[in-house]
Amino acid sequence: MSADKLAAPLDRSIVLVGLMGAGKSAIGRRLAARLGLKFVDADTEIEKAAGCSIADIFEIHGEPAFREGERRVVARLLKEPPHVLATGGGAFMDAETRERIRERGISVWLRADLELLLSRVSRRDDRPLLKDGDKRTILSELIAQRHPVYAKADIVVDSEDVPHDRMVDKIIAAVNDFLRDQPPLARGSTA
Ligand code: S3P
Repeated sequence: MSADKLAAPLDRSIVLVGLMGAGKSAIGRRLAARLGLKFVDADTEIEKAAGCSIADIFEIHGEPAFREGERRVVARLLKEPPHVLATGGGAFMDAETRERIRERGISVWLRADLELLLSRVSRRDDRPLLKDGDKRTILSELIAQRHPVYAKADIVVDSEDVPHDRMVDKIIAAVNDFLRDQPPLARGSTA
């Protein structure tokens, strides 16, 4: 099933979650363009706020400081008018961030299998969590830890090795199904 645009105006942001390499930024950018919405990449905003790269934040200040900054930045972005927000892979693991996203966003988990993630992360070498060790082993462990939590997202879309526009079609169709089933103000309260 596919769709060109949303069936109803959005009253909150579409928040992409999932592991490194799932395509959150690349697909999010195209999704936003298709919907005529702004695209925001949380990692880029964290770098702007910190005045240095994510690799440097991890290196100089440590992961807990990065997570704290990530929590603050995502909370701030969620207060902005509806847009497409790509989050870093760890953001949705934080209970407070999940709750903020539940209140102010529609979460979409881009679920990808190990082989697809590996092929994508191999193109870049600037991700702190993947630099010290075997990428396959690290990603397998992250899949085991994180997939059960990502599964709490409002919507799950399987990320496939297809043109990004095809993924955008799938996401729009899934968001339309979700909006049809759960109109604004009628959403449950479980995190
Ligand atoms: C992280 C994912 C990265 C970035 C940081 C930590 C994670 O973002 O936020 O390196 O914990 O999975 P991407 O998922 O956009 O690569």
